[in-house]
Amino acid sequence: MNYIGSKYSLLDFLVNSIEEVAQVEDRENLVFGDLFAGTGIVGSRFKKMGYKVIANDIQHYSYVLNKHYIENNQPLRKDLVEYFNSLEGIEGFIYKNYSLGSGSQRNYFTDYNAKKCDRIRIELESLYRREEISKEIYYYYLGSLINSIDRLANTTSVYGSFLKHIKKTATKELRLELLPIVEGVNKGKVYNKNINDLILDLRGDILYLDPPYNARQYSANYHLLETISKYDNPVIQGKTGLRKDYIKSSYCSKKQVKDDFEYVIKNAKFKYIFLSYNNEGLMSIDEIEKIMAKYGEYKVFTKQYKRFRADKEKSRKHKAKMTTEYLHCLVKSITPRINAGACI
Ligand SMILES: C[S@@+](CC[C@H](N)C(=O)[O-])C[C@H]1O[C@@H](n2cnc3c(N)ncnc32)[C@H](O)[C@@H]1O
Repeated sequence: MNYIGSKYSLLDFLVNSIEEVAQVEDRENLVFGDLFAGTGIVGSRFKKMGYKVIANDIQHYSYVLNKHYIENNQPLRKDLVEYFNSLEGIEGFIYKNYSLGSGSQRNYFTDYNAKKCDRIRIELESLYRREEISKEIYYYYLGSLINSIDRLANTTSVYGSFLKHIKKTATKELRLELLPIVEGVNKGKVYNKNINDLILDLRGDILYLDPPYNARQYSANYHLLETISKYDNPVIQGKTGLRKDYIKSSYCSKKQVKDDFEYVIKNAKFKYIFLSYNNEGLMSIDEIEKIMAKYGEYKVFTKQYKRFRADKEKSRKHKAKMTTEYLHCLVKSITPRINAGACI
């Protein structure tokens, strides 16, 4: 999935740096926390390597993707895909609000794809409610729907706006394609919470933090994926049909980010903590160092990285093609007391 801040192309850098600092020997006995999990690509890699992974994200579509990648293992039934692909479209919430044929004046999907997406989403929910499919299959197919429809969005890449005319890739007819299954020796655990509400309840060995870097809210940029995922008929507003209840993360607020970040660092019951951040983020490199170094031994790794391009060339604030990715590391010497109810 083409996702802002995805660490897909930084995976080797992350794995090598993390294992060097943590001097990993016996992966299967280690708990790896990926608590701003996004697409789940980082947690998936560590799951494959043998770690027990705990993943979390505040967005529901990310929760669904991670429920599949982190908690599911083979075997999972694949035969339902033909059934879903054979269904006729229906005029549901996505068609009524996000495609032109319904008169919504929004052009996010072709009429055909919006209707087909509605039908698959409704049918999946009803099979699950009638207990004809398991929770594992529900997340497998829902994650697959989110991924398949996202490829057909009539946008430049995020859902902050749509294109006037349907672009070529968006004309392709929706077909559900199943996500890969990530094999691991350990079954993980996935949450859908604000990290600041969750951190006290967890403990583990390696904590990887990859928060938003700037003021762009993921909830606004991916609002359609959130609505397809929750399918909860939300109140929507404005030209883009943004959910009225879209989540405002404090990690996108210059005023709040430092306090919330320090709260996580202070209360994390993980010996090794790693933070991905770039040199253009809301917190400066010095501010991060100052916070992390209070709680133990600090060091940093850097890597030149190609910038994510979602916005139009002219309106872009940062013109440089490359940006520097930082991996801040902390070996914690001050560990908070373990909560009686701490999970894992
Ligand atoms: C930079 S992205 C993570 C990308 C991910 N590492 C990947 O490779 O796909 C940041 C993520 O943090 C999530 N997020 C923002 N605020 C959060 C919060 N307070 N608690 C948990 N997740 C949050 C966003 O929904 C987003 O998916």
